[in-house]
Amino acid sequence: MERFETRDALQAHLHSIRVQGQSIGLVPTMGNLHEGHLALVEAARNDSDYVLATIFVNPLQFGPAEDLDSYPRTLEEDCSQLEAHHCDAVFIPSAEEMYPGGLDNQALVTVPGLSERHCGASRPLHFSGVCTVVCKLFNLTNPDIAFFGEKDYQQLQVIRKMTQDLCIPVSITGVPTARLPSGLALSSRNNYLDPSQLETAAILQATLKEAAGKLEQGNQEFKRIEDSAKTRLTESCFQPDYFSICHASTLEPATTGDKSLVILAAAWLGQTRLIDNIIITLR
Ligand code: PAJ
Repeated sequence: MERFETRDALQAHLHSIRVQGQSIGLVPTMGNLHEGHLALVEAARNDSDYVLATIFVNPLQFGPAEDLDSYPRTLEEDCSQLEAHHCDAVFIPSAEEMYPGGLDNQALVTVPGLSERHCGASRPLHFSGVCTVVCKLFNLTNPDIAFFGEKDYQQLQVIRKMTQDLCIPVSITGVPTARLPSGLALSSRNNYLDPSQLETAAILQATLKEAAGKLEQGNQEFKRIEDSAKTRLTESCFQPDYFSICHASTLEPATTGDKSLVILAAAWLGQTRLIDNIIITLR
C-alpha cells in the first residue's frame, strides 16, 4: 500500500492511475479504524479498481469544547488494517497540508437547511467543517465513487446534497452500519466508554428498534413515539439530545403518509455523545 503525505505526491500518483483507465474509489476517514470503516474499504474494493483511503482528523469540524485533542489516533494500526483489506493507497495529510492558509480565513462549503437540524443544531459549525474537507478531498482526488457510512446518516445526506448542488462529478455510495452483536454501532468514540457504559450503550439501538416497530405496525403518533423513546433513554442513564422521526432524504419531521423514514438519535452517556439511526420503509 502506498502512503502519501503531500497533495502534490498524491495528485501526481492519481494522475498515473487515471491515465491507465482505472476507476478510483475514495474512503474518507478520521482514522482509528474499526470494522465499520473497513466495510467502506470493502465496498470500495468491490466497486472500483483503485481504492484510496484518507486519514485526517479534521480540526474544522470540531467545536471549541469538543474532543479534537483527545480523538484517538492509531496511525500504524490503521495502515496495517487498510493493507490487510487490500487498500491501494492512503493519504495522511497534516493540518498544514490541508489548510495551508490556516483555518481562520478558509473558504467554507455549507449546505443550509439539512445541516441545521439534528446534529447541526447542537454542533453548529460541524457540517460546514465536514463539507469543506470532503469537498477539498474530492477536488484533490477526483474520485469516481466515494463511500460513506449510514452510521452518520445526516452526514451522508448532507454530502449527497453538497455533491448534487455543486455539480461535483462523483457518485456517493452509502454503506450499512457495522454493529457489535449487542446492536451498538461501531464508533471510534466507543473507546471513551467504560465496560458498564458499553453495555448500556446498546439500549440506544434497542430504543430505535422499538420505535421502528411501532411505526411498522401503523402507529403514526410520531411525537408520542419520540417522547416515550426519550423517556426510556433517560431512565437508562442517557441524556438524550434528540430522537426524531424524519423523512428519509429531507430529514424534515415525518408527516402522515410518508413511506421512507429514518429515525435519528443522539444521546450522551456520561461524557460521550453517541449517535445512531434506523431506516424504515413502510408498505
Ligand atoms: P469517521 O468518523 O472516521 O468515519 C469515516 C467514515 O466511516 C464515515 O463515512 C462514517 O459514516 C463511516 N463509519 C463510521 N462508523 C461506521 C459504522 N459503524 N458502520 C459503517 N460506517 C461507519 O465521518 C467522518 O470520519 C468524517 O466526518 C469525515 C467524513 C472523514 C470528514 O472528516
